[in-house]
Amino acid sequence: MTKPKGQWWNSFYEDVPFHLYLERHDAAELELTLRFLAERLHVQPGARLFDQCCGMGSLSIPLAERGYDVVGVDLCESFIARAKSDTADGVHAVEFFVGDAFQFVPDGACDGAFNWYTSFGYSADDDENVKMIERAFESLKPGAWFALDFPNVPMILANFKERMEHRLTTEEGEIVIARQCRIDNGVMHQSWDWTLPDGRTVSNQSTLRLYQPAELVILFQRAGFTEVELFGGLKGEERTDKSGRCVCVGRRPL
Ligand SMILES: C[S@@+](CC[C@H](N)C(=O)[O-])C[C@H]1O[C@@H](n2cnc3c(N)ncnc32)[C@H](O)[C@@H]1O
Repeated sequence: MTKPKGQWWNSFYEDVPFHLYLERHDAAELELTLRFLAERLHVQPGARLFDQCCGMGSLSIPLAERGYDVVGVDLCESFIARAKSDTADGVHAVEFFVGDAFQFVPDGACDGAFNWYTSFGYSADDDENVKMIERAFESLKPGAWFALDFPNVPMILANFKERMEHRLTTEEGEIVIARQCRIDNGVMHQSWDWTLPDGRTVSNQSTLRLYQPAELVILFQRAGFTEVELFGGLKGEERTDKSGRCVCVGRRPL
């Protein structure tokens, strides 16, 4: 496939050890996530699921191990290579593709779809971002559900910090991640400096369109979804301005 040119998300994840954020070490949280998906997508093992922007398959693989038939797409070639190599022999019902989620629709309609952990809203342009929700809509059988996990913007704004630092311990040594943030016209601009165990610093930038919960609902409706609902957490909690996440769920009409 040809990668869309000039967009930060084409290379951001290839350039830095972002995989460290995507390894799901918290078994209890993973379990809650998988249960949330089964419940809110109204699916059971055997169902076909689309993991849009699947990263290195850290949700697709456990779902496949539980008997779901999963198709995942991601733009990052190294994540897809890792997803394929992390899939245990004997787990057959999972397919991974390098592809652009603004365009990719899996072959064969799905019983449910999800887009997890802030993989949406990267463009400043709503007409561009909505295309990802439209592709999720097209991936589904009539009556099937889509869930999108996004930051809860009221909470982000209430706790906004211009500078954050995060340290990650790896086998090679410590990684220090410093992030500068500013918000301009509803878009969060982040500058990242990754100081790696060998002393090198890699810098990169990202943007996130800060969709308010009600704006996400409108985008879902624009893409054709009905019965759109918001959740504030993995236990199906009601979203409030204090919730950590804003999970938007909608149904492709029958
Ligand atoms: C924060 S990560 C989350 C990964 C995964 N959903 C998870 O929960 O582990 C965001 C992912 O979105 C992918 N991504 C961003 N824009 C994309 C696009 N247009 N098409 C496909 N993947 C994309 C990135 O490559 C990255 O793997």
